[in-house]
Amino acid sequence: MQTNSEEIIPLPLNFKTHANFNLENYKDLQASFQQDYLGTWAKLAQEELFWHKDFLQTLDDSEKPFYKWFPDGETNISYNCLDIHLKDRGEKAALIFEDEAGESEAFSYKVLHARVCEFTAYLKNLGVKKGDRVCIYMSLCPEAIIAMHACTRIGAIHSVVFAGFAAHALKDRIDELSAKILITQNGFYRRGKMVNLLEVATEAISGNSPIEDLLIFKRVKEPLSLQSSLKIQIHDVERELKNLVHLAIKNLNLSTHEVPEQTPEWLSGNDTSFILYTSGSTGKPKGIEHNTAGYLLWAKLTSKWVFDLKDEDVYWCTADIGWITGHSYVAYGPLANGATVFIYEGAPNFPEADRYWALIEKYKINIFYTAPTAIRSFQAWGLEYIEKHDLSSLRLLGSVGEPIGTETWKWFYQNIGKSKCPIVDTWWQTETGGIMISTLPGVNYMIPGTAGPALPGISAEINPEGLLHISKPWPSMLKGVYKNPDRYIKGYWTTIPDSYLPGDLADIYAEGYIKIGGRNDDVINVSGHRLGTAEIETALAKHQTVNESAVIAIPHAIKGEGIVAFVVLKQGLMNSTDSQQSHGSTEERERILKEHVANEIGAHAKPERIIICEALPKTRSGKVMRRLLKDIAQDRLPEGDLSTLEDKDVVAKLLAVAKLKR
Ligand code: PRX
Repeated sequence: MQTNSEEIIPLPLNFKTHANFNLENYKDLQASFQQDYLGTWAKLAQEELFWHKDFLQTLDDSEKPFYKWFPDGETNISYNCLDIHLKDRGEKAALIFEDEAGESEAFSYKVLHARVCEFTAYLKNLGVKKGDRVCIYMSLCPEAIIAMHACTRIGAIHSVVFAGFAAHALKDRIDELSAKILITQNGFYRRGKMVNLLEVATEAISGNSPIEDLLIFKRVKEPLSLQSSLKIQIHDVERELKNLVHLAIKNLNLSTHEVPEQTPEWLSGNDTSFILYTSGSTGKPKGIEHNTAGYLLWAKLTSKWVFDLKDEDVYWCTADIGWITGHSYVAYGPLANGATVFIYEGAPNFPEADRYWALIEKYKINIFYTAPTAIRSFQAWGLEYIEKHDLSSLRLLGSVGEPIGTETWKWFYQNIGKSKCPIVDTWWQTETGGIMISTLPGVNYMIPGTAGPALPGISAEINPEGLLHISKPWPSMLKGVYKNPDRYIKGYWTTIPDSYLPGDLADIYAEGYIKIGGRNDDVINVSGHRLGTAEIETALAKHQTVNESAVIAIPHAIKGEGIVAFVVLKQGLMNSTDSQQSHGSTEERERILKEHVANEIGAHAKPERIIICEALPKTRSGKVMRRLLKDIAQDRLPEGDLSTLEDKDVVAKLLAVAKLKR
């Protein structure tokens, strides 16, 4: 298919000539991959990573689709992100942090390395070792990144749980991981209010829990109350770290306040570095397992190529460490390149809707990577917040997590980038580990709303049904689904044999430009957060009043998609006055159910609307007809074939209740 040439936005000349990765590099690399696919990956891995022991095998595909990259090589993620920079970039800022109250802190590579070594020693002291699962339930703050690096230094497998998840969701993850250590903090501020993470963490591990040690960082002034009925060890990290440093000084006769460098554990390229849970099409989130060397290789290369990271840049990715973007493009990829990474802990509209622009001006941010849902909010808040600030330091913009759409792309380009910054619209997933499809700012022209071609080495294809698939294994691919090999095979490798299936629909245009069309399964995307409709239905089913439910997503102006849940209550609860007295009015019931979902999963999963109805529209084989519910939730008369519906009257009844709710 041809592209509308009017929509093409050329790259600025300075990028073509000065980018890290230019057209010539691109052509050479494409040719090299064509000639020798594995040999090219091997060469890149040798050039980009420090290997304690060289690998002999690039890819072991003997048990495909359980591909093993660089299995006999030995390396370490934290070493590749920190130690390798100590000589040339020791004093350079690795991390700059600002909290919502405006307090800031900068960490040079040397300091960050020392803090990671210190925390590594601390974890080792607690008995944490290679292969142990460590759960991190923290806000986006330096201590969280330090904890992640300390885990990778030891070879302990970290699993970060987004701080917005509720106690039940945290508990499910901890239990499946059999994690013995939970690292959290006493709280953080969001829109001026304290979020008490410790309370949620404590609830998650009360009762039967594999957790043996709860580590608490004191991140807010409130005193740490370590009294608890929990039968586990509770640690005030700050206090114990000080003791540890004193001990080290005493034992080793050190003159300065430092713990000795912690030699990293040398891991096989295929050892698991982390497990990150994401939603799928069943009620249960899946633990996506990532390897060590291939993951870091691609996080490093894509950071360098796609964001054109330069030594003097200040780079800001707004993603939280609870999501994959916060792993690959906050905690690891940019640091592997020796970049300066900025992180901000608070809300974008606190105290005013110009906070991001104030931060860009204050820290002279050069590269700004965010999500379409945030961009749509900026659009809604208005230009006056932007015009107050000097954004001239910006040179490149990025988007991730959901389709950006042509209009939002153009708005971002004109109003934030002032029509001089290229935008990289990066398509990828938790499972892919790194960016797969995107324009490169030194190589490809842009088309608003179209992600771009697959990156060199990535074999993206689209089948006749419009399903995007990746036909060759790549280094940062997931290793598997934790404790569920079947789900890995069936979910990703069965629909198109020997090809990885991401679950997205896409179109391909001239020069391999790919436009992502959205999901082809029951995964929805709310404010860039991935959720499964079945996951929300499972949460609803746990409520005493719910008989069954069907969850769908409808377009939402800011969030991208909004959740609508059609709920059938248990018999006797629909019209009886008795039950109304004990359970409240319909509005009250809906409110309770919304809260219930937030309590089960997290506030980001709270439905926009709950529609209580008599029955769900089902086919004769018992399947809920979701497209019909989508129409009804948007006040549209259902179209298409309804002949398979078991009860045709259901449609009129549903339309009536949905309208009543307006
Ligand atoms: O549907 C795609 C959408 O987000 C999904 C992956 O979600 P998650 O694993 O949470 O990772 C998000 C951050 C990488 C994909 O299957 N998605 C991601 N990026 C884009 C996108 N949809 C359209 N355009 C994108 N740039």
